[in-house]
Order: sequence, then C-alpha cells, then structure tokens
Amino acid sequence: MGVGERVTFELKAPVAAPKPALYRELAQQAAALLDGERDPVANAANLAALIWHTLPELNWAGFYFLKDRELVLGPFQGKPACVRIALGKGVCGTAAEKRATVIVKNVREFPGHIACDFASNSEIVVPLIKDQALLGVLDLDSPTLSRFDEQDRAGLEALAAIWTNSIVSESID
Ligand code: SME
Repeated sequence: MGVGERVTFELKAPVAAPKPALYRELAQQAAALLDGERDPVANAANLAALIWHTLPELNWAGFYFLKDRELVLGPFQGKPACVRIALGKGVCGTAAEKRATVIVKNVREFPGHIACDFASNSEIVVPLIKDQALLGVLDLDSPTLSRFDEQDRAGLEALAAIWTNSIVSESID
C-alpha cells in the first residue's frame, strides 16, 4: 500500500482450516500486503499484525532485530516485551545464534527462557536471514502448551522469507 492510496487490504476472517491451508492463505495475504514496500520496519509491523489477526491461540507475535550483536525489540502485537536479548540468551537468542528455528513445547522446561508474559506456555522463534546475514528473529508465543509444530515451522519460515525478500538492505537502522 503506497502513499495516499486508499487502504484496500482487507483482513480475511481466520478460518478453521488445517494448518497447511491456513499458512498457504496467510502467505498469499502477506505477499500482497508487503508488495511494493521495501521498508523493513513497516513490513515487519504489517506482517506482525497479519499473523496476530490470523493465527489462533497467540498471546504475542513480533520481531526482534539484530543491532550490535544484540536482539532489539521491533514491531509486535501483544503485551509490552523485554527490549534487548543477547545472542545465545532465551529462546530468541538461541534461535539467532544457531540460525535455526527453535520450537519450545513448554517454556518452563527451556533453560534460560525469558518470560515477558506469564501467560506464555509455548513458543516458536524463526531466524531472519538475508544473503547469509542474520537480521533478527520472528517470535510467536502461545498460552497453549505444544501450540507449535513442524507445520508451523514450515509456514512461519515461508512468512519470514516473504519479509526478507521484501526488503532491500541487509541491516535495519
Ligand atoms: N520468550 C523470549 C523472549 C521474548 S518474548 O517471548 C516476547 C525468549 O525467551 O527469548
């Protein structure tokens, strides 16, 4: 959506579809929503809102961006969250350091989990990588134990790729 355009994007009501179908629909909506815009923060903000309004059983959805070897809070939906996370710390720092998606079925069993909202019981964190550069992570929390599985991993990694492909630069300032 560009300058002065009418807001024509309409959120579709979340459907009780099987996860792969839901993520296929979400990916199409995300591609349309980010189309024509290259700003990383604007696109992260819109993607966080789209995820928040589409996926069920979430209590937090958002971005952390890598700045000076630290993850710094970016656009999100949910309660206010911790601002800075060191690489290797918490679920976010672990996914960032490993450059691999981390799924935590029960956050209380994850050593070093950083509790921003005590309602969170499970979590998935997807690294954001563009041209081999780590840009940050996409983090989703749920009040439901074992909310995230391999289908969420595949769906969210596809959404992360839509975001990394939408932006130009390899750093977020
Ligand atoms: N639980 C995360 C911290 C970020 S919040 O969930 C928003 C972690 O352990 O890294």
